[in-house]
Amino acid sequence: MSLVEEINKRKTFAIISHPDAGKTTLTEKFLLFGGAIQVAGAVKSNKIKKTSTSDFMEIEKQRGISVATSVMAFEYKGKRVNILDTPGHKDFAEDTYRTLTAVDSVILVVDSVKGVEEQTERLMEVCRMRNTPVIIFVNKMDREGKDPFDLLEELEQKLSISTRPLSWPINQGATFKGVYNLYKKSLNLFETNKTQLADEVIAISGLDSPELMRHLPEKDAIKLREDAELIEGLYEPFDIDLYQSGLLAPVFFGSAINNFGIQELLETFLDIAPSPMSRTAVEREVKANEKALTGFVFKIHANLDPNHRDRIAFLRICSGKFERNTFYFHTRTGKKLKFANPTTFMANEKILTAEAWPGDVIGLYDSGNFKIGDTLTEGEQLQFQGIPSFSPEIFKELENRDPLKTKQLEKGISQLTEEGVAQLFIQEPGHRKIIGTVGELQFEVIQFRLEHEYGAKCAFVPMKYYKAFWIACKDKKILEMFMHRKAHAIAKDKEGNPVFLAESEWNVTYAKTDFPEIEFHTISETSGRSK
Ligand code: G4P
Repeated sequence: MSLVEEINKRKTFAIISHPDAGKTTLTEKFLLFGGAIQVAGAVKSNKIKKTSTSDFMEIEKQRGISVATSVMAFEYKGKRVNILDTPGHKDFAEDTYRTLTAVDSVILVVDSVKGVEEQTERLMEVCRMRNTPVIIFVNKMDREGKDPFDLLEELEQKLSISTRPLSWPINQGATFKGVYNLYKKSLNLFETNKTQLADEVIAISGLDSPELMRHLPEKDAIKLREDAELIEGLYEPFDIDLYQSGLLAPVFFGSAINNFGIQELLETFLDIAPSPMSRTAVEREVKANEKALTGFVFKIHANLDPNHRDRIAFLRICSGKFERNTFYFHTRTGKKLKFANPTTFMANEKILTAEAWPGDVIGLYDSGNFKIGDTLTEGEQLQFQGIPSFSPEIFKELENRDPLKTKQLEKGISQLTEEGVAQLFIQEPGHRKIIGTVGELQFEVIQFRLEHEYGAKCAFVPMKYYKAFWIACKDKKILEMFMHRKAHAIAKDKEGNPVFLAESEWNVTYAKTDFPEIEFHTISETSGRSK
């Protein structure tokens, strides 16, 4: 197959949701369709359960499992589907944001009862930053949820995106009858049947067809016609270009647990979702069909087995063909690296890969060369843009509890932050190390790993900061003045960029009024698209 055929065959995406909306269940049903797993329940173990104060080892065990399922690839009707898994636990949200830089589109799962939740909004914000195309799947239609028209309005308002229903539910909860596919004009009748994969789909010529009455009670058929008319009046016809530009989200309704509406979602997704397209590097746009290999590392996973200290770096291929045992150029260090055991992940199996194509994600065994965001090429000096850091929400000072192990602590914390476990800020005088995370769990992870992998002992002292703001100003003098005035709240991130650590909302509002020339960003990104 040619490079272009390989590219067109691929769909690389992530399923995202607020915890509990049904991401795991939907992923599992997709894998069942793809024949990648045979039994329901196989993916469940990937999920870090919600018992928030954690049994740390349990989490690690589950993280271990999640390596194998980090990318789930399968073939379906001639397409190669790559699902990039994102952690369900809120404390690992930063991991999810990074994974979103490696996909070409997403399916966002929303709970029909709860509607848009906090994490849904944040995830969508990340998608909007890079205009990632989004399909919305409204799940749990077997429950008494919100009115679908109200829900669409809520989606538009809270997620700041236009929507276009492509399927429409016939009732919900106890009286849920199924969905009408507005895109393919077919009726899909609901059965609570968890064993059967395919839905019973009835093709009807239109909503005026007498066929409709044969399958639905008159009351429901009338309501469906009225709803469909309203939709046609309210919404423009579906425009695939708007969807692929990230401006319009098609919406589907169904019930993942009952396997309902999944096949039509998957098949429409394969029809409309973009295959790998060009990607932006600092130097230029890189087209997927360029012959030379390019790719970037978006995730690093440490192997916690003390007998195998290596790490796995996850490389998203952006152009060209990746080949095993071939030297590639690591653009940050100028080193030439080759990989004897690149792996792909097929559901629960790791498979040695001889070659990979744009859109694919491969795992590279790494002895410490890679940092998140690193680029590989065939020799060109390139740096792909846009692995953002988001402001942490919890800040603690790292205290060394064993002065004899200072070096180990330094090395450990440097490597762990390169893996993206947490963010490190350095504050002068005294070279204070401040660790910033989005959840408490990371502190446990860091403490445990520093001790077990580096032999260093640490403790954390809570700090009262609430957010970090990356600061910039065209006038260097003003920036210096600000940094001098606020010296107690200024730190540097790992790249040496200045950061203002604010103690409260008021604190930052005050600083902004005082220094209107200074920009305050809660997202750090090299692309300049930060806000
Ligand atoms: P997540 O990955 O987004 O966190 O969600 P997950 O798929 O684990 O689903 C969360 C809960 O919602 C699960 O129940 C799951 O069975 C249920 N669920 C998923 N899809 C549907 C649906 O279409 N209808 C209904 N009624 N429920 C659905 P749980 O009790 O938390 O877990 P479990 O004991 O079933 O494993």
